[in-house]
This record gives sequence, structure tokens and C-alpha cells, in this order.
Amino acid sequence: DDLHALDDSPLTLVQRNGMSGEHSDIGHTVWYAPSVSSTNRVLREMVERGDARHGTAVVAGVQTAGRGRLGRSWAASPGSGLLISVLMDPVEPRVTTCIVSLAVQDAIYSTAKQPSELKWPNDVLVGGLKVCGILVERFGFGAVVGIGINTNMEQVELDRIGAEATSLAVRSGSIIDHDALLDDLLIRLEERYRRSKSKPESVFQEWRSAIVTLGHTVEVETARDTWVGRAVDVASDGALLVTNDKRLVRVYAADVRIRSL
Ligand code: BTN
Repeated sequence: DDLHALDDSPLTLVQRNGMSGEHSDIGHTVWYAPSVSSTNRVLREMVERGDARHGTAVVAGVQTAGRGRLGRSWAASPGSGLLISVLMDPVEPRVTTCIVSLAVQDAIYSTAKQPSELKWPNDVLVGGLKVCGILVERFGFGAVVGIGINTNMEQVELDRIGAEATSLAVRSGSIIDHDALLDDLLIRLEERYRRSKSKPESVFQEWRSAIVTLGHTVEVETARDTWVGRAVDVASDGALLVTNDKRLVRVYAADVRIRSL
């Protein structure tokens, strides 16, 4: 771990144009480093030193040890992805994921004009392929929310990663401006966050209806095994409800692949 700390280049403050000016808004302070181990890790360390509060964000050009869900890694060559972590003090922890995935959908639509879907729990897909992964790491009072959006990744790089993934540039045919996307994303996050304060249930229901996984036969891959069932709904705590041999299974940490459409 200490070796990774050596990878972290110094952070500089980002000047934002679209800033609403509110001291408490998400993105009130945005730090940038050309290269870090993982933005989630850097932000977590800032929290531990008392250098971050709700809304502080860290953005990197590239990560040398980017982290994904379920202990996986997250790879993106320099400039090919928007890599950001945001510290959030959720009003209701269960809606953190909902706020973030809906805000990413909004930002992708307004910046790249691409409609997207959600794959449970929080992958954002364009045309059925993953363009964004979200890693929520909870601790103490809040959550470090890591967002990786494939922006300018070329098809050769996507092929190399080998996942069922795409990028906004491949889909839209034009280069994505990271500054504009970042700005829009932070504004959308603040919008959704405010809404979750006044109407947490409506944010949850919006997230639920954006999930394409529901109603399909799915392959559920956990750390232990892989099995097939039918995704019927999400529970109020965010668990995916899957029927399997007439049993209803609550799925929390897993990767889910749609088998039939
Ligand atoms: C997933 O497995 O789908 C989640 C991927 C999350 C990647 C982002 S990139 C910025 C932030 N820093 C990390 O190390 N991971 C997240």
C-alpha cells in the first residue's frame, strides 16, 4: 500500500465554471492529480487526515491501482475515462447508489446525448454495454463514492479489457470534453442529493424503474458461485430479489448478467 502512495502525484485545486457558489454543494472543492493509485483511496486518506468534508471530490487523469466492485480492478488509459471520487454524507445510506447512478445518467444524456439504462446494482449501460462503474465504500459518517466513466476509450482498448463495455466516444462518434462532463456531473449529483433529502422515496422509485435487470432471467455471480434465477424486484434496502426454485433470494454483493430478453 505504501508503494502505491508513491504513485500519487500532487493534488491541485480545480477551478470550476459551472459552480453555483454554495459552500456546501457537492463539488465545492475539487482536487486533481495527473496520476494516483486510486481516487477512492486518496479521498479516503484525506478524510482520515480531516482534509475532506461532504462534497469534496478528487479527480485523476489516470489510476495505477483503480478499484472496482467485488475486489476487481478498474483500468483506463490516460484521458480515456473520467475518474472521480466524491465524499457524501448520505441522508439515507440506501439511496446513495440511487442518487449517483441517476446523476450519471443525467450527465451522460446532457453531455453526450446518449440515453442509458441501469444494470443492478449501479452499472450504467449504453446500448446494453457498460459505460460507467460505481464503487461505494462506506465508512464512519459517510461514503466515498467512486465513479469511472468510459469517455474517450477507443474500441481497441475496450477489446483489450475484454468486458462487455463501450465508451461514450465510441457510441456518439465524438470526443468527450472531461471538464464539461465533470461540471455537469457535479451539478446533477447536487440536484439528486437535494431531492433525496426532501423525497428519498421518489429517488428510490426512479432508480428502481431505470433498472433493466428486472423481469428477466439472470445469471447471478457471487464470490462463491454462479446460479440462474428470475429477477423480480428490488427490496427497499437495495437488494435484488431473485426467484430460484420457488425460493425468493435476496442478492446483495454480486454481478448479474441478463440471460434472456
Ligand atoms: C465497478 O466495478 O463497476 C466499479 C468501478 C469504479 C471505478 C471508479 S474510477 C474512480 C474511482 N476510483 C477507484 O479506484 N474506483 C472508482
